[in-house]
Amino acid sequence: MQKQKDKKILRKQSMKKKFLTVLLSVLLVSGFTNRSSRENPEEIISVRVDSVLSLMTLEEKIGQLNQLSYGSGWGPSIKVQVPDQYKKMIREGKIGSFLNATGAELTYELQKIAVTESRLKIPLLFGLDVIHGFRTTFPVPLAEASSWEPELVERSSKYQALEASSAGIHWTFAPMVDIARDPRWGRIVEGSGEDTYLGLTMAAARVRGFQGNLSDDNIIACAKHFAAYGGAEGGRDYNTVDIPERTLRDVYLPPFKSALDAGAETFMASFNEIDGVPSSGNRLLLTEILRNEWGFKGFVVSDWNSIGEMINHGFASDLKDAASISINAGLDMDMESRSFIANLAELVKEKKVSEETIDLSVKRILRIKFKFGLFDKPFKYCNKERETKNIMSQEVQNAALEVAKRSIVLLKNSNSLLPLKKDLSKIAVIGPLADSKQDPLGPWAAVGNPNDVVTIVEGIKKLVTPKTEVLFSKGCDIEDTSTDNFDDAVKTATESDVVILCIGERENMTGEANNRSTLDLPGVQQKLAEEIYKTGKPVVVILMNGRPLSIEWIDRNMSAIVEAWFLGIKSGDAIAEVLFGDYNPSGKLPVSFPRTVGQIPIYYNHKNTGRPGNERNRFTSKYLDLPLTPLYPFGFGLSYTNFEYSDLKLSSPEISDEQELAVSVNIKNTGNFDGEEVVQLYVQDLVGSVTRPVKELKRFKKIFLKKDEEQEVSFKISEKDLRFTGHEMTSISESGEFKVYVGTNSADVMESRFKLVKTISSSLK
Ligand code: NOJ
Repeated sequence: MQKQKDKKILRKQSMKKKFLTVLLSVLLVSGFTNRSSRENPEEIISVRVDSVLSLMTLEEKIGQLNQLSYGSGWGPSIKVQVPDQYKKMIREGKIGSFLNATGAELTYELQKIAVTESRLKIPLLFGLDVIHGFRTTFPVPLAEASSWEPELVERSSKYQALEASSAGIHWTFAPMVDIARDPRWGRIVEGSGEDTYLGLTMAAARVRGFQGNLSDDNIIACAKHFAAYGGAEGGRDYNTVDIPERTLRDVYLPPFKSALDAGAETFMASFNEIDGVPSSGNRLLLTEILRNEWGFKGFVVSDWNSIGEMINHGFASDLKDAASISINAGLDMDMESRSFIANLAELVKEKKVSEETIDLSVKRILRIKFKFGLFDKPFKYCNKERETKNIMSQEVQNAALEVAKRSIVLLKNSNSLLPLKKDLSKIAVIGPLADSKQDPLGPWAAVGNPNDVVTIVEGIKKLVTPKTEVLFSKGCDIEDTSTDNFDDAVKTATESDVVILCIGERENMTGEANNRSTLDLPGVQQKLAEEIYKTGKPVVVILMNGRPLSIEWIDRNMSAIVEAWFLGIKSGDAIAEVLFGDYNPSGKLPVSFPRTVGQIPIYYNHKNTGRPGNERNRFTSKYLDLPLTPLYPFGFGLSYTNFEYSDLKLSSPEISDEQELAVSVNIKNTGNFDGEEVVQLYVQDLVGSVTRPVKELKRFKKIFLKKDEEQEVSFKISEKDLRFTGHEMTSISESGEFKVYVGTNSADVMESRFKLVKTISSSLK
């Protein structure tokens, strides 16, 4: 009797408990705790997350880990007629996130189903590749990195977030922070080039720009591709990466850490393997480094079917095996392989994956949904009026122009051919990229529209005087094999005072899977350049491309060369402003330009070797048929004015690990224009317990100097900047001698020396 009574009481208590849990969840979910959340947001979010989690079935939990692409392809879709299959899955709580669903209207339709028709009303997260703009296309990331202006890049990302968020997007798969030392790799265009320090600076700037304080107008950032995706052998996308852990930690990981420190809430696992382990199943990367060492609290999404691809890698026997390997390694959300949704429940039953592991991933995803305010305002980015107001607004377009012109790099300017006068009588604009509307958008342009693009011909026409004739002749297509239209181009050149020759690559010759085995100008463009050269007219070459090209002949023979990359919708305006001197170019290369493809890998921060290259000594590290140097070094870029460096000073010949070293230099604008210069500081650790690079960028600053103006620029560095990965795979510094270099690019520098003297206690740290 007593037993029955007890049972009744227990049942009652447990019902009461359940009821209280549900009530608490509802109160929490409805924002009841808003006041205290201002006091300790993370703690309150964690309570809210737990309360929702406690209501979820295993199937609903697994649903949160499932991300699908909306529509049939892999690009953005605005198709508002939601297919039945998606409706059903959302209602059943089987989708946590969509990628590629865009537009206030479509995202509203999808979200409505999630928050009104699914059992637990958990909002969906909408992701998209906003790589360099949503509708207003900004310069490709490699171009933006050429500005060497983190504040500018941050602003650019902020505007990109404003536009994307107005079209329903919560989350961008950017920044791509992969270091790229091989320009054959097509995805070099999506990152900040070859250098770790420039890369980590830009990574943080982009995260800050996208995420702000995660309130309205911001989107969630995703640092990708974790990790070392840019180290693909031979520059072939998706290829094996075979680098030692020290190189991984010193060269490839710091931009990720920097993105994390700047607040990046999500990471994407890369396609490649490192040392035999594909990233989507890599516990060392996803759990030990990312979470245990670095303390990452956000979630990791796979790349597109990268979980499934572990079967091809020979790392998983089937999708089920792949799902189990991934989730156990620390990957939280499955993009498109459907391996989680199909297999995790069974894997839990079989005890190959614990429910606690799944709970952890669900919590990480719900945490972001709460933090981003989606439980409170699921429709916050589904406002049609806001969409119309912000997309292609004048303010965003102005920003796109500003960023574009500041991303241009002047590579050559013999006899000060540039800037041109605006009242020339005839200007010939020649080449396949002169009037192209599509190519200036560059790869990964989201919903960028070629009709919005200002071409080079159009940009020039806007700036010249009414009496100037602007003649256009295409000459050939980008990949033409025919020279049939050369005659017209040559005739047009002959009639003109100056030729603007616009050559380079198609917009989709870089980007995912777009690798090349040569860096030569595609098609017959080189021949076109040679024919134009024969006219004897002064030629300004405008390059449009997403990677360094091997242009030795152009460099030897043409008077001026402007590296324009892919500058987005304002390409023509930005280029014209530079051509006519309305803007004095200030960009610097974020990557070395090889003389020829055979020189790869060639990057400035290489090791010295036991036999450093020496042109006069045969038995040294070099090619018989090439100079030691690249065509243009990392950090190179000219201005219409000249800058003279003098008076390099160090605050002390020696620092301890608690002291800072001040390095200062005097810079004078000695030319005829006001202008900007990027002052660069490099360090070399002369002797180490492991060998160190010949030079490493540690600081830079862009300064503006009026004509004849002079300024002292000073930088501070400390022991932290001298660290590297030691034998124990931890970050260390060592007492000893260092060189410090300051200059206008990585090759043209002044130098001095200092010592780091570590105290005993700090060497033991
Ligand atoms: C594959 C790419 O590698 C990745 O960068 C991108 O974010 C996803 N596809 C989604 O489009």
